Amino acid sequence: MVPAGQGKKLFKRAKEEYHRNVANPSSERSKSMKSIYLCLLAAAGVMSAGVAQAADEEALAKSKNCLSCHAVDKKVVGPSYKDVAKKYTAKDEAMLAEKVIKGGKGVWGPVPMPPNATVKPDEATRLVKWILSMK
Ligand code: HEC
Repeated sequence: MVPAGQGKKLFKRAKEEYHRNVANPSSERSKSMKSIYLCLLAAAGVMSAGVAQAADEEALAKSKNCLSCHAVDKKVVGPSYKDVAKKYTAKDEAMLAEKVIKGGKGVWGPVPMPPNATVKPDEATRLVKWILSMK
């Protein structure tokens, strides 16, 4: 139980609040505007986290030279990453990660992909996950 004195105080505060809102209806509105604004901010934060993640993978792909032969949505020397994403599912991740490191040939045409020796296994997995997310 709330001690009687405190209960009275709470009641008084609630009453004051009520009167303030009646006297000034816009304050209630500005409060809900504020919460909408906060929601938007939170949503933007979540979204930009996703974008930042993808930007990291793209920077990795750039630094490993992948993007000199691949583009996201058109064929360059190698297949577009969207085509790769369409062809495979998550269960092909390990096989593709190994191919990224060792190179491969014969799947997309006569041109082979040379080995990418500077790519570490965890980087290859990150790159493949990034590519497969482009469906
Ligand atoms: C010198 C050009 C070149 C570079 C650099 C290159 N690729 Fe490729 N990539 C190709 C070619 C060509 C193919 C098609 C090979 C085939 O037909 O099997 C290919 C195929 C692929 C595939 C599909 C493999 C399959 O079996 O379907 C993936 C995934 C891939 N590359 C990712 C990468 C990543 C990640 C990098 C950077 C670490 C990279 N590639 C760098 C030319 C390149």
